[in-house]
Amino acid sequence: MSEIEKIESETLARIAASQTIAALDDVRVAALGKKGVISERMKSLGKMDPEARKSAGAAYNTLKAKIAAAIDAKKTQLENAELDRRLATETLDVTLPIAPLPKGRIHPVTQVTEEIIAIFSAMGFDVAEGPDIEDDFHNFTALNFPPDHPAREMHDTFFFNEKEDGSRMLLRTHTSPVQIRTMMSQKPPIRIIIPGRTFRCDSDQTHTPMFHQVEGLVIDRETHMGHLKGTLEAFCSAFFEVDSVKTRFRPHFFPFTEPSAEMDIGYERVGNEIRMGAGEKWMEILGCGMVHPNVLRNCGLDPDIYQGFAFGMGVDRLAMLKYGIPDLRDFFAADARWLTHYGFDPLDQPNLSTGLSR
Ligand code: PHE
Repeated sequence: MSEIEKIESETLARIAASQTIAALDDVRVAALGKKGVISERMKSLGKMDPEARKSAGAAYNTLKAKIAAAIDAKKTQLENAELDRRLATETLDVTLPIAPLPKGRIHPVTQVTEEIIAIFSAMGFDVAEGPDIEDDFHNFTALNFPPDHPAREMHDTFFFNEKEDGSRMLLRTHTSPVQIRTMMSQKPPIRIIIPGRTFRCDSDQTHTPMFHQVEGLVIDRETHMGHLKGTLEAFCSAFFEVDSVKTRFRPHFFPFTEPSAEMDIGYERVGNEIRMGAGEKWMEILGCGMVHPNVLRNCGLDPDIYQGFAFGMGVDRLAMLKYGIPDLRDFFAADARWLTHYGFDPLDQPNLSTGLSR
């Protein structure tokens, strides 16, 4: 093997064996650097006779070019391998939650509203909504509140200024006006729940001027109190996450239902804890009744063909009961510490298969 062939095969072998760019660079310096083997050999060319120098010079130049090309190719290969390694180790799964976990919490009112919707959705109810600013017709008249009837004052209504025609808009005092809006725009059978904000001029530990209700309405051809009772009992045991609940229907008055009732559920106090569902004490949970024939008529439905039931519950009150929150006013104080304590994990959506609350 000639001198040149020996240098070539040795250098190419060292290039092939280089594992890093730094090692490859050492090979380059040892071969092509100012004091590298090839440069040293080329220095001795001067002592040769012209013919031999010419052919040896050409051979060394070819060798230099070959080795430089081999180093370049190896360098590209090592760089690509390094890039692949970084791509493999520095991947970012954009579907993972960001770390540290987001600080935002779900407000108990949102949580409880979602829980109520999950329960009624499973029973086949749709969600309906209506405006916060209502007129007298939808909030009172169509719901069978006679003009100047004291029941209108029961609600401590917030009115807007009089319009030119003398009428006044108001902040809805309950979600019941959406019953009217639905019955006037949809044909029975109707099965809806109506979550939303409501307003009454009232403020103490258990009342705030703005609060939340969920209304329910079922209209069909053969609807009776048994359906009302079964639906609400099923709701309560699902909501309080107990096997069964003890309930009591007390006669009550609402202009838009007849008969009307308030539903109480049994509970007991064990130490600091309130256990819903059983026990000797009664807690009022909601108002309900069979839709008044006048309300059906006001919405263009024939009470001899259609009947239905309705109910309305206070979401904030249910949240206080279920999660042991003592003062309603804190719900709307926008205190981040309160929300951190009483709020819920945004990644846990209430549903009936994995559980409503965790
Ligand atoms: N709208 C009533 C209230 O706010 C609750 C209710 C709704 C009662 C539907 C009966 C039927 O007090």
